[in-house]
Amino acid sequence: MRILVTGGAGYIGSHTCVELLLAGYEVIVVDSLINSREESIRRVAEISGRKLNFHKVDLLDKSGLSAVFQEKKIDAVIHFAGLKAVGESVAMPLHYYTNNITGSLVLFKVMADYGVRNLVFSSSATVYGDPAALPITEDFPLKASNPYGWAKVMLEQILRDLYHADPTLNIALLRYFNPVGAHPSGRIGEDPRGIPNNLVPYIAQVAVGKLPELQIFGNDYTTPDGTGVRDYIHVMDLASGHMRALEKLATNPGLVTYNLGTGKGYSVLEMVNAFAKAAGKNIPYRIVGRRPGDIASCYADPSKAERELSWEATRGIDAMCRDTWRWQTKNPNGYEEP
Ligand code: NAD
Ligand code: WQD
Repeated sequence: MRILVTGGAGYIGSHTCVELLLAGYEVIVVDSLINSREESIRRVAEISGRKLNFHKVDLLDKSGLSAVFQEKKIDAVIHFAGLKAVGESVAMPLHYYTNNITGSLVLFKVMADYGVRNLVFSSSATVYGDPAALPITEDFPLKASNPYGWAKVMLEQILRDLYHADPTLNIALLRYFNPVGAHPSGRIGEDPRGIPNNLVPYIAQVAVGKLPELQIFGNDYTTPDGTGVRDYIHVMDLASGHMRALEKLATNPGLVTYNLGTGKGYSVLEMVNAFAKAAGKNIPYRIVGRRPGDIASCYADPSKAERELSWEATRGIDAMCRDTWRWQTKNPNGYEEP
């Protein structure tokens, strides 16, 4: 089986490529490197002991993308490529909609041109907005509060429409909760450009001494300790979720939608304490005002994926923090040479 991975040089894509290669799939990566570096691909090959094929191509470049499909027959696509900074999407909606929606439309057209009928799509818990109840099941109403989130809602709808028009397609919409952690080797991990937006990479940079302190965005939420609660999921568990989704597509399921989360919510303070334990360091923090657009709590009901994919997250927050810390200390400048 030959799998095309868009965005395969990125955080979740690189970890998934390792699992794909170890499982014996042939892997072709397409990535513009707009938010990643080719070094991650080199390290994926190193960890897995297998070669993969890399093309530096932007999804917006239809002829460049078609040339990749022309070269070898592709059995399935895992589509990670997209920009993901929520705040940046509010400031630059046209850039986000063009990259994430137009880029995906080009991909779907090229897939249709070459008769590729199997797709795994990276969706997000962001499509649930501020949920009316917890835990979140896949049938909750969909909404968004920023262009990044709307693009995910719209792309899901586009894929449902494509499936409606052609029920021979097989599409898995995977809604990830909060991905964290790194490969246990410490060779690949999340490499944010500039100051991280997300909690765990920010804590890691405080712990390693690159940032002075964590700002905790509000302690007046209706949660046990007042700080925001999220469903953090280890990136290696997400990677194995993609393997199970590919196996599901091989059974011709049509369009299927799954939450990929652990089902457990942890507060910001719980994550700070878990990380301090893993790193053996105190994490200085200060409580500041709420971040606009944040919600109090968000966690999955992952039972549908457990039932239908035989998939379950197996790594807890101690492993998430330990593996993030290993990656951070071994690569204080990410993939960049010091
Ligand atoms: P990432 O930025 O590390 O990886 C995305 C990759 O896509 C990058 O390597 C980037 O260079 C590439 N890319 C972006 N636009 C492209 C284009 N037009 N053509 C070719 N390549 C392009 O992000 P990630 O965390 O690995 O996220 C992967 C996917 O999962 C994204 O679609 C993201 O929206 C989704 N997701 C991420 C999270 C999260 O918190 N990390 C949560 C839910 C969903
Ligand atoms: C987690 C908690 C913050 C940073 C975002 C996107 C979402 C999805 C995952 C892609 C919250 C608090 C954070 C900091 C803090 N991405 N926090 N200080 O907001 O749940 O989700 O990433 O689909 O769409 O919105 O994740 O890691 O930013 O925040 O106190 O410096 O940590 O308020 O409670 P979030 P996060």
